[in-house]
Amino acid sequence: MCGIVGILGKGPVAENIVEALRRLEYRGYDSAGVATLENGAIGRRRAVGKLKNLADVLQREPLKGSSGIGHTRWATHGGVTETNAHPHIVGDVVIVHNGIIENFRQLKDELIAGGATFTTQTDTEVVAQLIARERKAGKPPREAVRDVLKRLHGAFALAILFKGENDLLIGARNGPPLAVGHGNGEMFLGSDAIALSPFTNRITYLEDGDWVVLTHNSIEIRDAEDRHVVRPMSFSQASSMLVDKGNHRHFMAKEIAEQPEVVGHTLAEYINFNDRTVRVPANLPFDFKALDRMIITACGTASYAGLAAKYWFEKVARLPTEVDIASEFRYREAPLPKNGLAVVVSQSGETADTLAALRYCKAQGQHTVAIVNVPESTIARESELVLRTYAGPEIGVASTKAFTCQLTALACLALLAGKVRGTLSADKEHEYVSALVEAPRHMAEILKDEKHIAAVAREIAHAKDVLYLGRGINYPIALEGALKLKEISYIHAEGYAAGELKHGPIALVDENVPVIVIAPRNELYEKTVSNMEEVAARGGKIVMLTDATGLEENASRLFQRIRVPHANAFISPLLFAIPVQLIAYHAAVFMGTDVDQPRNLAKSVTVE
Ligand code: AGP
Repeated sequence: MCGIVGILGKGPVAENIVEALRRLEYRGYDSAGVATLENGAIGRRRAVGKLKNLADVLQREPLKGSSGIGHTRWATHGGVTETNAHPHIVGDVVIVHNGIIENFRQLKDELIAGGATFTTQTDTEVVAQLIARERKAGKPPREAVRDVLKRLHGAFALAILFKGENDLLIGARNGPPLAVGHGNGEMFLGSDAIALSPFTNRITYLEDGDWVVLTHNSIEIRDAEDRHVVRPMSFSQASSMLVDKGNHRHFMAKEIAEQPEVVGHTLAEYINFNDRTVRVPANLPFDFKALDRMIITACGTASYAGLAAKYWFEKVARLPTEVDIASEFRYREAPLPKNGLAVVVSQSGETADTLAALRYCKAQGQHTVAIVNVPESTIARESELVLRTYAGPEIGVASTKAFTCQLTALACLALLAGKVRGTLSADKEHEYVSALVEAPRHMAEILKDEKHIAAVAREIAHAKDVLYLGRGINYPIALEGALKLKEISYIHAEGYAAGELKHGPIALVDENVPVIVIAPRNELYEKTVSNMEEVAARGGKIVMLTDATGLEENASRLFQRIRVPHANAFISPLLFAIPVQLIAYHAAVFMGTDVDQPRNLAKSVTVE
């Protein structure tokens, strides 16, 4: 999942392209490149690693062209080298690509059999080679592109320039998002509106199968059947402000610290603070009472928010809730009830597997609700009802504030379902909404204990393997804790339902394995303490996250304890999320990894 940009400008565009790529670096940071046309001649600069490296190259060897394309890469095919960095040039074709050409191998074999020589290992070069072959056969640029698009299988967003064609930029979309930006005598292409926000907020989103021919003053969109189509132009709210870290060392640290505030913002959208009730939207496009069951699907951290929500929907609304990771769900051809409800959860709103799962559910006649943090995203645009999380831009690849805002929105939706289905009494509604209103204060209190949590994390960072245990609605928090530690500190970690331990994972336990136990003082507390006993009996290093007090009798068996304020069990996932995020953050800082842009990851996964 890469970021792509194209500009037909009035003056030199290379710097503007880098400015736009800065807003897309969350999509991949293996390498970056820019190519411009100056009096029709192609100039190209590329660099391995972060965008800054490319900016340094351009500083030394500037490009003056007024038409250009740019790319920031997350490597899928071919190693992280300058040769494999985009833009690719073949003949008079210059191209950047986000996605995966699934039939690239057959096409490559066909091209090589036809005498083509390849210089890179990427799937993208196949597209440039195919277009160049059509050009050599005498086809004009747009016809060459049109005919090549028909041969491509897979996911692609493309931006294409042609040597000698200063007033031509062609884009195509099939899967990953691509937006057109309308300027005054200038035209733009970008993976999203945020990238184009420094230049314009007049945005047209391409649909799947669309390709667009741009000149400085015109736009022509054609669909997969090569019919001329008109797509709506909208005014994007995306802020052009580059988010900064404030006085935090990392975006992740800033985003962890912002949670009390942004959870409050999200709550304000879905509850009435004055009478502590959940807000019933006037235009709910489905009837919760009529539902027999619902499905929640998402990827990664978002799927763990969905898994926690299952406990809320089944407890508060007595609504059987299935949760499945989108990459499996989309191919499982799950039988879904007529008029059922599908909830998809996504921070970016662009995750390919979640988008495909959404489309499957729509095709199966489900009502669709999207819990998203990016209101202009494809998932938001294609869903029947959008419930925004108000986390603000999340820059750190490891999701934190978006996760607790997803939990908040899902908790409110579960309360709404319970209220409409008549399974939630007014007293319980008041109790649970009041607990949610308290959550930001409790979260702030936990953040005050960061010094202690950081010390515990530095201890844990010495381990090779770490286990996380949780029960009930905190089992997903154990999974999330393990994911956070893995993705930013590169320490192997696994989350388990505490009751599962003795069915295998306990074999991993010895004095070198920290076992982080999420143990809220609730009806499952004693069961969790028994699991801790089993770990202690094998010499495991127990880190207990709990609101329980008077633990002296356990003290000898505890390696460390992290206190969480006592609160209503309904909100415990929101609270226990904070210490597991901080453990991962401080372990990663201790390990010296790139916390905000961990290796091999990207913030938005727009390919399968
Ligand atoms: C979480 O820290 C990861 N960045 C990743 O698991 C993420 O949650 C997943 O890719 C889903 O992304 P989305 O919420 O944007 O759909």
